[in-house]
Amino acid sequence: MVSVAILGAAGGIGQPLSLLMKLNTSITKLNLYDIVNVPGVAADISHIATNAEVKAFLGPTQLADAVTNVDLAIIPAGVPRKPGMTRDDLFKINAGIVKSLVEAIAENSPKAIIAIISNPVNSTVPIAAEILKAKGVYDPKRLFGVTTLDVVRASRFVRDIRPELDATTLRVPVVGGHSGNTIVPLLSIASSPIELSTEERDALTHRIQFGGDEVVKAKDGAGSATLSMAYAGARFADSIIRALGGESVVEPTFIPLAADPEGAKQIRELGAGDLEFFAVTVELGKEGVKSIVQLPTSNLTGFELKAIAVAAEALTTNISTGVNFVKNV
Ligand code: NAI
Repeated sequence: MVSVAILGAAGGIGQPLSLLMKLNTSITKLNLYDIVNVPGVAADISHIATNAEVKAFLGPTQLADAVTNVDLAIIPAGVPRKPGMTRDDLFKINAGIVKSLVEAIAENSPKAIIAIISNPVNSTVPIAAEILKAKGVYDPKRLFGVTTLDVVRASRFVRDIRPELDATTLRVPVVGGHSGNTIVPLLSIASSPIELSTEERDALTHRIQFGGDEVVKAKDGAGSATLSMAYAGARFADSIIRALGGESVVEPTFIPLAADPEGAKQIRELGAGDLEFFAVTVELGKEGVKSIVQLPTSNLTGFELKAIAVAAEALTTNISTGVNFVKNV
């Protein structure tokens, strides 16, 4: 009995994500919101023979209804990258979009879990936190930036060079943030040992950090990752939904570290310092974040520790960009 809203449901990510959510049999209500084209997407998806009731909500006058009484709101609304753009280049447009959507969620479903896909995640999640604080409904355990695609890519890219490993079960923890050098794969503590030469480690780390660029380049102006992102978003949403149902589920995600101050001590000591947000592996529960999973830190390499420090520096700027956007509006 879970109600889900997808905001930006008619987009490149939104459509396949809506499809995958319609296939999730735990969902009873699926509200699809966008500013264009959403009635067609909803009509189409609504014919799939699962029990979820699908409804379209078009434009700002229907936004409040779209996010009323929902347990989980997923936000893939906004513009994607074109070749030559960084995720930060998207900030000007997407910051305002995320702000207005989170305001509506705060007013109509103040307890909803919010999962933000819209880039730059390193800044849009801090924007959401500021909005929720201003509305008096902030719960750091219920706000997530979706970084699942980074761990999905990490598993797959390792398999590209180690075909004996199973990409479906291999887990590489990825910490930091969700753009370029803020993405820090911790290959030394992957779920299966991976022997890598220095060259392989450097190339693999770079590929995981900039894997999104491969898709942007291949799409040649038509956008960024949508299908792999929909898969990753659906996997993350399913983890949240299973946790709401009482299961204990582990997922990597970009969160306010205030969600588990005690558990955050380890990652702070490793280099996150006093940052308010960081991507970590969390155990999810009925209330959102249950705890931050502790890493076998003694196994981390100097290369990884240095990468965490580099990520933390970039994140400091990304986070204040988000916070200042809300303060200056
Ligand atoms: P898209 O342009 O295909 O779709 C975006 C959708 O958002 C469109 O249907 C548009 O009408 C809608 N939209 C725009 N303003 C809106 C508003 N105010 N309210 C509701 N809907 C609105 O873009 P795509 O490819 O689906 O990407 C969406 C976002 O996801 C981008 O910011 C992109 O950078 C990000 N992204 C994030 C990833 C991650 O790993 N977190 C991976 C890939 C993309």
